[in-house]
Amino acid sequence: MTTLTVSQIHQHIGEEVELKGWCYNFRSSGKIFFLQFRDGTGRMQAVYMKTDLPEEQWAILESLRLESSVIIRGLVKEDARAPLGFELEGKSITAIQIAEEGYPIGKKEHGPDFLLDNRHLWLRSESQWAVQRVRDRIITSTYEYFHENGFIKFDTPILTPTSCEGTTDLFEMDYFADEEAKEGETSGSKAYLAQSGQLYLEAGIMSLGRAFDFGPVFRAEKSKTRRHLTEFWMMDAEAAFVEHEGNMAIQEALICRIVADVLKHCAQELKVLERDTAPLEKVQAPFVHMTHAEAVAKLRGMGSDIGDMDDLGADDETLLTQQYDKPIFLEKYPAVVKAFYMKRDPEDPTRVLNNDLLAPEGYGEIIGGSQREDDYETLMERIREHNLDPAPFDWYLDLRRYGSVPHSGFGYGLERIVAWTCGLHHVRETIPFPRMINRITP
Ligand code: 4AD
Ligand code: MG
Repeated sequence: MTTLTVSQIHQHIGEEVELKGWCYNFRSSGKIFFLQFRDGTGRMQAVYMKTDLPEEQWAILESLRLESSVIIRGLVKEDARAPLGFELEGKSITAIQIAEEGYPIGKKEHGPDFLLDNRHLWLRSESQWAVQRVRDRIITSTYEYFHENGFIKFDTPILTPTSCEGTTDLFEMDYFADEEAKEGETSGSKAYLAQSGQLYLEAGIMSLGRAFDFGPVFRAEKSKTRRHLTEFWMMDAEAAFVEHEGNMAIQEALICRIVADVLKHCAQELKVLERDTAPLEKVQAPFVHMTHAEAVAKLRGMGSDIGDMDDLGADDETLLTQQYDKPIFLEKYPAVVKAFYMKRDPEDPTRVLNNDLLAPEGYGEIIGGSQREDDYETLMERIREHNLDPAPFDWYLDLRRYGSVPHSGFGYGLERIVAWTCGLHHVRETIPFPRMINRITP
């Protein structure tokens, strides 16, 4: 008998099949046993009749506990009442391991802390299964989009000698002793966990033209918000000869592609999550464009006390995104609130050629990007203005010494895109093992 998966079952109606997985629930009338089965690909019910089974087989069923691992065999039958449209007429069962009594996650409502403490088990629940599948889809679509559009995957380092996004939320660690290091080998005995691969990606595109990275990044964020993790996955993309407008066009196409793919490939997952898909269907080009100055004026009109040169707070972002049903490009922020590498707007040197992309429905910033300063002298000045030591940026400045070109890029936060597409309130559910200011276990 061939071992199949739940996802293949629809092609095997009327056949006897074998499935390997877990028993996530069961109920017995004493004569009929309903076994709720999952195998990673999906969920279905197997129904066993006592009269059809040898005694020791029925005894196995009766000894099952939640989450026992099993091999089930039976006849695939169409059943209009089943969520999948099929169920298994059970013929036999093998227990791989009878789970211990007291599986911690039950039917009753659990609080978020309890579920996070049991994250390693909570991941088995249907909602968490669905979230991880959507996450996988978004990663896959991102790779596909970039490979179809001439971007090369370029792996940037995690241990770095400098900060990319300012020094306030850097994770710092000792990195060997000073004595061993020859000049130029390290900047001392400190290393920092990468906040973004961007600066290295800029080196990459001077070889490859267009490149992207995708990996974990780290921010010692002291904020306990629904949008912040201390370890999260960022995708940075960078392209030579692309300026501010072109940069936004790439972001728009990527986000449209991701959302369309999630709708197309994850309909079942979105249903499990009870995600209203109507707002996602509206995510079509062109997105809304607004300058920071326009946003400030609008927000003040709605009662915000935001200053002319202030960064937007989370509440401001939420308020703004609730006014539109498409993502919003917020452009040209005050230079004072943004990173040293951003190119100034030639029409207003107090502002930069950057954009944040805000997701609708109150989700807020999912992407940060900009055109990069490509002039050596200007970049040097910016590094000094930001009180950064120029020495460890020497290599980065070299990119402006040898064949500098206009270039731009952006980075997305994977967890924020997953939270938005899945309709989740907090990003902590979107990463398998969240790390936050108050949590590093399991
Ligand atoms: O806006 P950020 O800080 O931009 C950069 O790091 C640039 N170097 C990217 C680039 O141009 N290549 O971060 C990019 C995105 C944010 O828009 C947000 O989605 C996400 O990363 N992000 C976080 N996600 C979860 N937890 C945090 N603490 C995050 N900080 C940023
Ligand atoms: Mg940002």
